[in-house]
Amino acid sequence: MIQDLLELKEESLQMILNIDDLKDLNEARLLYLGKKGKLTVLLRGLGTLNSNDRRELGIVANKIRNELENKIEDIKQSLKQKELARRLKSEAIDVTLPSKRIKRGAKHPITMVLDDIQDIFLGICFSIEEGPEVELEYYNFSALNMPMDHPARDEQDTFYTEGGFILRTATSPIQVRAMEKSDLPLRIIAPGRVFRSDEVDATHSPIFHQLEGLVVDENITMMHLKSTLTYFASQLFGSDIKTRFRPHYFPFTEPSAEMDISCFSCNGVGCRVCKSSGFIEILGCGMVHPNVLSMSGVDASKYSGFAFGLGIERIAMQRYNISDMRMLFENDTNFLNQF
Ligand code: DAH
Repeated sequence: MIQDLLELKEESLQMILNIDDLKDLNEARLLYLGKKGKLTVLLRGLGTLNSNDRRELGIVANKIRNELENKIEDIKQSLKQKELARRLKSEAIDVTLPSKRIKRGAKHPITMVLDDIQDIFLGICFSIEEGPEVELEYYNFSALNMPMDHPARDEQDTFYTEGGFILRTATSPIQVRAMEKSDLPLRIIAPGRVFRSDEVDATHSPIFHQLEGLVVDENITMMHLKSTLTYFASQLFGSDIKTRFRPHYFPFTEPSAEMDISCFSCNGVGCRVCKSSGFIEILGCGMVHPNVLSMSGVDASKYSGFAFGLGIERIAMQRYNISDMRMLFENDTNFLNQF
């Protein structure tokens, strides 16, 4: 029996010393030390011996079992260490490697110009209004002092929708909607897309952006118009810019004007950008026509106002020296990446 025990010890040590895998090690443990393991079975056999032999063999068998358990535990720890080292190596991250380049989005030039203009007016207590792109003829024309037979209706090539609506040809109808719904005094700007059935070319597009402005209060005069718009131009184009107001005609303002700024490219001397005139046209403006005030529910004998409207594409083209409006709509990333 003692021989069996010693052989079992040899055999099991031999086996576990050659193991290099935790699963195999566990199997070996079960094989010798488990409930039905070889050593367990042998120990169970001790019961049939007389008490002297049993004690003697019992001591030897327990020693072997302890030795085996310790050995298995040692090997288990060292296999765990090896496994950890292997994982650390295979999962190591080289923090010195360059990262993937993150492509950052950027604002479209139209958005940049619009943001700048909005900032300027928000800074002098204007608020931002919006209106629908699909509009009633009433707001787009009639309420802006262009009755059905008014020639200005023909000049603006209008898109008609099913059901008798139109796509707004300007942001001006937002003026009327704002006056109808708001308390006075009123100081608003209204940016948005507008639509005209124009042929596409370097300076025309059937969809473009405008920004409308409107101030209504008691005793508003042309002086408020000129000073506000001159301040705006100096903020947007630089403090050494000069403004010039030329008489013009719009059905919804009386008197009406166009505002030019001194050419930022040649400083008023005359160049290609300003077509040798020294000035660049920036916007249309005027004192809100009393008919427009009345139609919008404003008492024209008590209140007066000024309004203006400008094209965002035109300003973006001037500011960034873009010669063809189509570039602003094609979304060619080679073009857009420059901004
Ligand atoms: N609605 C005009 C256009 O589309 C722009 C404009 C001019 C708006 C003068 C105004 C204004 O409010 O007073 O060309």
